[in-house]
Amino acid sequence: MSRTNSAERTTIDGAEPSTTDAAGWPSDDAGSPSPSRFPRTPASPAIHAVGLSKHFGGTIAVNSLSMTVERGEVFGFLGPNGAGKTTVVKLLLGLARPTGGEALVLGAPLGDRETRRQIGYLPELFRFQALLTAREVLRLHCRLLALPKDAWEDEARSALETVGLLARGDDRVGTFSKGMQQRLGLGVALLGNPTLVVLDEPTSALDPVGRHDVREIIRGLRERGSTVFLNTHLLEEAEHVCDRVAVIDKGTAVATGSLDELLGRGSRVRLKVGGLGEPGWRTLGRFGRCQAGDGWVVVEGLEPSRIPDLVDALVALGGRVEAVIPEQQSLEARFLELLSER
Ligand SMILES: Nc1ncnc2c1ncn2[C@@H]1O[C@H](COP(=O)(O)OP(=O)(O)O)[C@@H](O)[C@H]1O
Ligand SMILES: [Mg+2]
Repeated sequence: MSRTNSAERTTIDGAEPSTTDAAGWPSDDAGSPSPSRFPRTPASPAIHAVGLSKHFGGTIAVNSLSMTVERGEVFGFLGPNGAGKTTVVKLLLGLARPTGGEALVLGAPLGDRETRRQIGYLPELFRFQALLTAREVLRLHCRLLALPKDAWEDEARSALETVGLLARGDDRVGTFSKGMQQRLGLGVALLGNPTLVVLDEPTSALDPVGRHDVREIIRGLRERGSTVFLNTHLLEEAEHVCDRVAVIDKGTAVATGSLDELLGRGSRVRLKVGGLGEPGWRTLGRFGRCQAGDGWVVVEGLEPSRIPDLVDALVALGGRVEAVIPEQQSLEARFLELLSER
């Protein structure tokens, strides 16, 4: 797909755009061009942000956020309500203008029109025209995407099938439950086989079956090579589908990595050990924070690779080690810990 040569522009000048185009996007002609410091190549990451910030008056919604999302990964943007997730998505899609910082999306500056066509977006809050049928909504969005007209029918059918609405395709949206409207929104985000799919709280209105289906759809997107940027406050959602997550709080990424990396750091081991004297307890304390009770000792903050050294040390001091059970901290506990560390 061809792109405009606005590639060398950045759209960062601090002000909200005063005009929008027909599709409601802020116009690209607001703000003065300035050279981007990022190279734009096909191998560029899906998203690369440096020092991205957004202030609303005195409210700092996004606070100098830097992150990279590689192509083909399912990246979870995980944080409590009000953390700044939706604002970041709006910045990345060119729907709001950053107060500071820079970002490239699919190698292009924020707000690049041709790049928007390659991005599927499920907003957090949306409402489709109640009088249109699901198929008509999809066809309308095919048109907005400027897909060739002879592809609309197949695109609509395939989207309906993927989100489990094929049987309801000719029913009006006004008759749909919230969950069905959410599925339709997801279908719209999948039209035209987008390179990057941005989903803002995609399962918020869904029951457990719907949540499961969305996870399957996200896995399918990964298999076909799309990049998925998933905003969620649901730990379980991140746990099930994301290759990497950024934990965001108060507009800042407090931790980024695979879930194994994030959880591994706080891992702990549960021990059943008898015959420990004072030196044994002191030794345990050198390996991590200890808690004893019910005949068990829990050592927290211990790298799994150090467990054999711990056992050796205890045995050398006359301890009788009956059981050693490594435990991964739950995602929820780690999440709360990360948020409270700030
Ligand atoms: N248009 C706006 N005007 C003023 N404040 C806003 C606006 N949009 C978001 N905010 C504020 O920015 C912060 C982050 O909001 P948001 O990005 O919606 O968080 P999240 O999506 O993580 O729940 C909140 O404090 C919110 O009140
Ligand atoms: Mg939000």
